[in-house]
Amino acid sequence: MDKVLVLDFGGQYNQLVARRVRECNVYCEIYSYRTKIDAIKAMNLKGIILTGGPNSCYEEGAPTYDKELFELGIPVLGLCYGAQLMQQVLGGKVERAAVQEYGKTEVKVNAVSPLFAGVSEETICWMSHFDYISRMAEGFTSIAQTRDCPVAACEDRTRGLYGIQFHPEVLHTPEGTKMIYNFVRNICGCDGSWKMDSFVENTVLALREKIGNGKVLLGLSGGVDSSVAAGLLARAVGKQLTCVFVDHGLLRKNEGDEVEAVFGSKGIFDLNFVRVNAQERFYGKLAGVTEPERKRKIIGEEFIRVFEEEANKIGAVDFLAQGTIYPDVVESGLGGESAVIKSHHNVGGLPDFVDFKEIVEPLRNLFKDEVRKAGLELGIPKQLVMRQPFPGPGLGIRIIGEVTAEKVSIVQDADYIYREEVDKTLEAYEKANGVPAPWKPDQYYAALTNMRSVGVMGDERTYDYAAALRAVKTIDFMTAEAANIPFDTLQTVMNRIIKEVRGVNRVFYDLTSKPPGTIEME
Ligand code: XMP
Repeated sequence: MDKVLVLDFGGQYNQLVARRVRECNVYCEIYSYRTKIDAIKAMNLKGIILTGGPNSCYEEGAPTYDKELFELGIPVLGLCYGAQLMQQVLGGKVERAAVQEYGKTEVKVNAVSPLFAGVSEETICWMSHFDYISRMAEGFTSIAQTRDCPVAACEDRTRGLYGIQFHPEVLHTPEGTKMIYNFVRNICGCDGSWKMDSFVENTVLALREKIGNGKVLLGLSGGVDSSVAAGLLARAVGKQLTCVFVDHGLLRKNEGDEVEAVFGSKGIFDLNFVRVNAQERFYGKLAGVTEPERKRKIIGEEFIRVFEEEANKIGAVDFLAQGTIYPDVVESGLGGESAVIKSHHNVGGLPDFVDFKEIVEPLRNLFKDEVRKAGLELGIPKQLVMRQPFPGPGLGIRIIGEVTAEKVSIVQDADYIYREEVDKTLEAYEKANGVPAPWKPDQYYAALTNMRSVGVMGDERTYDYAAALRAVKTIDFMTAEAANIPFDTLQTVMNRIIKEVRGVNRVFYDLTSKPPGTIEME
């Protein structure tokens, strides 16, 4: 199998580089720049990509690499810091730029270069640098320029060495994927036969090797990540894996049974599955509690306690598995060489009293959509794999005020109706137009407000709760806008909820964007 190495110099976009390479159907792996040359030689590579990084390559102690890397006869592409480093190591000069370019920048490229085959001669690129290549090493020519940067890209075609000052891996460089394709497929000559199922196969083999005869324990939440991790581990080591699924009674309607149907004894995998029905225990702890942060804390802590109790029944295990995915890793600042951005609630929250030797995280290098693809290939049903984000505290933070079994049941039913109707409208739109609806929300759910109001049903006065519908469009979940769900659909949902869900006599649609609102209500 053709393989490309992404040599990590600590930039923020390194996983994105790997992802773009994979999108060209080429397998790649990311290794630290500290990897020894002999190890690199043994990898049998078709190409090497040097990533960006936060340093200046002329500074003392900045990450560097031996000249030998460029003499292996393997094509090398340097990106940003990687491009500058290549020049410096080979005898060029890198200096602090008088004008620091940042953001979308017009660039003129030399379309005769194989790196830019098919790329428009004037295109947009994403720049983010303080330094620039002031003199190229011998044998190189400039193949792209911006207003302030005479060497926005350079090549020494005979040696197969290329450098790009900007970031082709980010979406702000609209033709960037073409450039990466040109490098891995045309310049390196990778045949493009790698597919996502090779990821599944390779990971299964690697997990088998790592785990050996060991025992593995996984906390299965029913969310996408832990489900796919469970699928991969089950494929790899079967009954050596035990999944503990804690049903805290705050899941969406039917969700607990759906998880059991896939992973339980009648499911599609061969593993040990333990379902803990801890509903009453959670409702008991939450009784009388109304303060949102307190509710979150109680649910989080109780979850860990229940998991620990089950783990202790199982006894010592060799591995504790986690469904950590790449964005969790980056946000926690655990991502290879990159800088800390913020800490994240899914990483680092380990149980205190579980006896294990090592952690195993099979999804650590994947983005969410790659996780979903892997899940589908493992045969996990679509409705589970395509699930929208669901918070750890579950419906606990979608019931404003005190949580009771009755309120959980109300919000489950209302939410089910809402999602069913929205999905129906979305499907109809797509069928009629061949494209997804422009208003397609990225997350949508029903919540239960703590407000009761007067209504009339038949000839009777009612005094019931108001349900709130939320639907947002968002790219990164850090900011969001209310989605423009068709009014007809909202009305159908309102009618159905009031008719079918006892305890609700009023329905609101939440228009708040984030900020100032958050996506969840508590
Ligand atoms: P907020 O409410 O902060 O939500 O705007 C942003 C995204 O994060 C999800 N969310 C959580 N996910 N544990 C999680 O795993 C949590 O405690 C949690 N709180 C919010 C939320 O569903 C949305 O997608």
